[in-house]
Amino acid sequence: MNIHTYEKAWLVAAMVLIVGFMATITYGAVGPGIAMIDDDGGTIDPAEINDHERFGEPGVEHVGDDEYEVAVVAQAWSYTPEQIEVPADSEVTFYVTSRDVTHSFSVVGTNVNTMVIPGQISEMTVRFDEPGEYGILCNEYCGEYHHTMEGKLNVVPEDEFDLTELSVDAPSEVEAGNETTITANVSNGMQEDLETTVALEIGDQGSERDVTVPGDGSEEVEFTVDSAELGEGDHDWTVTVDDYEETGTLTVVNATDGGDGSAASGGDGDA
Ligand code: CUA
Repeated sequence: MNIHTYEKAWLVAAMVLIVGFMATITYGAVGPGIAMIDDDGGTIDPAEINDHERFGEPGVEHVGDDEYEVAVVAQAWSYTPEQIEVPADSEVTFYVTSRDVTHSFSVVGTNVNTMVIPGQISEMTVRFDEPGEYGILCNEYCGEYHHTMEGKLNVVPEDEFDLTELSVDAPSEVEAGNETTITANVSNGMQEDLETTVALEIGDQGSERDVTVPGDGSEEVEFTVDSAELGEGDHDWTVTVDDYEETGTLTVVNATDGGDGSAASGGDGDA
């Protein structure tokens, strides 16, 4: 059989194209590690999200050496939490679900891109090699303010990452002559113990306390404040732990001035 040269050329070209297409599709399916959405993460009753073990308190959790889990709840038109911080060079598994309608969870510029369907939990594991800032977007039309639905993912250097939280319990007023207590609560979400220093500054006084906060635990530090050393009036205070800071004001009131009534009316004369 005699085949015309042009026809042969076209046959070869067509073959090359077909093989090329198949190679592209195969690479796309297995090469970059793109996973199709499924119910791997399990199912959930959207009405019970607030009581759910994982989604009741969404956020970042340290689960192993270099392993973190992040729970995210999507709802019209925001993500909870809105800002996520994870360390670079660690394995991060996202669990995302929706409270209301179908949304998506897409980390711009990465392979993290999944539909978020009410009743289902989408699960993805990623490793971010380099620190950086990424936007999180909703790619599924979900109503009037769909275009405003966004979040932020911060990948920070490993040695700058922690899961420390500071809260401070302090009175706003103390009577002159009395002592009062400012209590700092430091919680540590990492698995390892946290050795750090809690510092209080008030007026021109300061004190420091070294603490060891157990892994996945918290520690309370009490500072006794003597109003006599401060003197009457407003005194700004600052409690710091590493990069965390809480501030407030403590007012030393003179009982005989009357102040706002009840507390002062019982007192008679100065201390
Ligand atoms: Cu949520 Cu679009």
